[in-house]
Amino acid sequence: MSASPPRSRLRPPAPGAAVTLRPAEARDCRRTWLWRNDEETRRVSFDSSPIPYETHERWFTEALASDRRKLYVVLGEGQEAGVARLDLDGRQARVSIHLAPERRGQGLGPAALRALADRAFDELEVDALVASVKGDNHASLSAFAKAGFAVAEAGAVVMLARSRVVDPHPGPLPPEGEGASMPPRREVEGVVPAPSPPEGERVRVRGRAGDRRR
Ligand SMILES: CC(C)(COP(=O)(O)OP(=O)(O)OC[C@H]1O[C@@H](n2cnc3c(N)ncnc32)[C@H](O)[C@@H]1OP(=O)(O)O)[C@@H](O)C(=O)NCCC(=O)NCCS
Repeated sequence: MSASPPRSRLRPPAPGAAVTLRPAEARDCRRTWLWRNDEETRRVSFDSSPIPYETHERWFTEALASDRRKLYVVLGEGQEAGVARLDLDGRQARVSIHLAPERRGQGLGPAALRALADRAFDELEVDALVASVKGDNHASLSAFAKAGFAVAEAGAVVMLARSRVVDPHPGPLPPEGEGASMPPRREVEGVVPAPSPPEGERVRVRGRAGDRRR
């Protein structure tokens, strides 16, 4: 596997480039294995050993069949560019993502993470997203921050989180044309102080910073 291309050779982000997610299928097994085994992806993973194809194939087949795991292929302008994953645990989901080496540094990651959050909150009844990232993985920390994740716990492994913001006690709709007096939105979960979360984002997470994942 080759290292990530130097930044100067990365294609600049296409203005308004569309990033979408599609559920992974059996035909994605090989490409996701190649992305997962890329040198840089292994370096930033908690398990950095190369993964034999047979091992990946077994894991991938089980993942596709699982109710608790959702795998999505990240599409940049319709082209397969990476894989994003949700591991569901009740109303919480753990997020992971890695892109093809030649598609990094173009803003696809943050856009894919935002799309993943929309899926989790809108389709899967998830209230909180968490992720564990190595503290020296600048690209990942930056991408998660751009996607609205806040630091819940700092350290050699950084715990990141983003919660769904909902109003558990919605008031009556205002009369038509009088939208200005809507009640403030409230949050499902409690508050953990975190640096610069985007407006409306407050988090409380389960799990530990040392949680190891594939
Ligand atoms: C982490 C990842 C998903 C981020 O997605 P992305 O599309 O590259 O995110 P961005 O384009 O917003 O880039 C994020 C930052 O990393 C930098 N970066 C990304 N790829 C880079 C590369 N190949 N070389 C140098 N810098 C890079 C960007 O310049 C940007 O820096 P900035 O935010 O300070 O301006 C993606 O880089 C990736 O798959 N990396 C390898 C696997 C990985 O780290 N997965 C996450 C494990 S928790």
